[in-house]
Amino acid sequence: MDSFVVFMHVIAGTIIVSMSSIMQLIVGPAVSLLPEGLDKKRLTEKLAKRRIPIMDSAIMIQMTSAIYLLYSRWVMISLEPVMIAKACCGFIGLSLAFSAHFYFRGKKKKLQAEGRLSELKTLNEKTRFIEPLVLVLASCAYFLGVFFNHM
Ligand code: HEM
Repeated sequence: MDSFVVFMHVIAGTIIVSMSSIMQLIVGPAVSLLPEGLDKKRLTEKLAKRRIPIMDSAIMIQMTSAIYLLYSRWVMISLEPVMIAKACCGFIGLSLAFSAHFYFRGKKKKLQAEGRLSELKTLNEKTRFIEPLVLVLASCAYFLGVFFNHM
């Protein structure tokens, strides 16, 4: 059971970091070059449809496994500065990812459905920093986890 949770933690962490890197460093900049229009809208909808269920599941698995690891390895984590830093990066990153995926996305959908476009624009501006920060913090948590176990 314990090794299964660690296995799922590593797989979900790999999905979060790789998916965020691909979307933010490759797909996002490429899509932003396309002219506004129906094709761009359809493309972004298709990307979201593929990405959202995978990222949502990975975030839930990572949060659950992190809570288990925090409980089962509390002594090890609290005695190791590398693991304290990793847990902090991981928890802040996961909380931000959770807020973007399970709170702000719903709020944005609601504003769009109600046609409150100026409020939607303001919210988009305010939450623009979340995804890049998730990428940085999740990558740090990943790197520190691998460093701690294999160096
Ligand atoms: C996005 C967030 C996170 C990512 C990407 C991530 C990634 C990883 C990876 C890749 C490893 C395995 C290293 C290896 O064996 O090669 C690992 C191990 C570990 N992680 Fe995380 N992690 C995250 C969040 C957290 C959080 C919030 C905690 C809370 C305590 C945590 C606790 C641990 C512990 C205790 C281990 C060592 C498990 C063991 O080998 O016994 N992680 N993490």
